[in-house]
Amino acid sequence: MTDANGAIIEGRGLTRSFAMPAGAVTALGDVSIRIDAADYVAITGPSGCGKSTLLHILGCVDQPTAGSLVFEGRDVSALPESARSRIRLTRIGFVFQRFFLLPMLTAWENIELPQAEAGANKADRRARTRELLDYVGLSARSDHRPSQLSGGEMQRVAIARALANRPALLLADEPTGELDEETGLQIATLFDRVHSDGTAIVVVTHNPAVAARAARHLAMKSGRMVGA
Ligand SMILES: Nc1ncnc2c1ncn2[C@@H]1O[C@H](COP(=O)(O)OP(=O)(O)OP(=O)(O)O)[C@@H](O)[C@H]1O
Ligand SMILES: [Mg+2]
Repeated sequence: MTDANGAIIEGRGLTRSFAMPAGAVTALGDVSIRIDAADYVAITGPSGCGKSTLLHILGCVDQPTAGSLVFEGRDVSALPESARSRIRLTRIGFVFQRFFLLPMLTAWENIELPQAEAGANKADRRARTRELLDYVGLSARSDHRPSQLSGGEMQRVAIARALANRPALLLADEPTGELDEETGLQIATLFDRVHSDGTAIVVVTHNPAVAARAARHLAMKSGRMVGA
């Protein structure tokens, strides 16, 4: 689903300030960004430049203090939290540096949970979870808990979980930051496949080899986009 222009996201003048005792911190200042359905975007920039802040806003987790965000044609800033949370659950997948799998659940259960939250029936959940475990090459690890998986395996489960409800957009924040180089490249290769199978990707990364996979490169500095 895209708007009339084919955009998944159109953010204009996105600004995020945090009120702190020592004065306001502007993490993001006047950033405009458009993400299309076929996009594969890498965002790079020094630590503290606002990459995660931007990703949280694009993912409807956080709201800008100024500017507008249109997601699949809907003005997100005008939506109540319940509608924003539905967008997060069904239209966006998140992948994090530290995986954030639920430790008491198996790989299978971690992947099934967002489908249950979205209201999918048991048969559909079973078929989709099986398909995703196969997709990320972990069919033989379905009953392992996160503590019984390697870092690369945990990240593959997290990617399967992110894809569970067939999102339009995958947002990844430093997805290879905890992995060795070779494992990181395997994750990057999986991202390539996810993109060619039709999901837009925005990946924040310090890893040049991961950034190189993307078709479009955005660089940030001090809360702003630099160059293009
Ligand atoms: N909740 C918050 N309250 C106050 N300041 C914040 C908050 N979140 C982020 N900041 C500040 O906003 C700036 C941007 O932070 P952000 O986490 O977006 O950086 P980043 O580019 O993701 O850095 P890194 O590469 O280290 O993850 C930083 O100066 C940070 O201290
Ligand atoms: Mg960050």
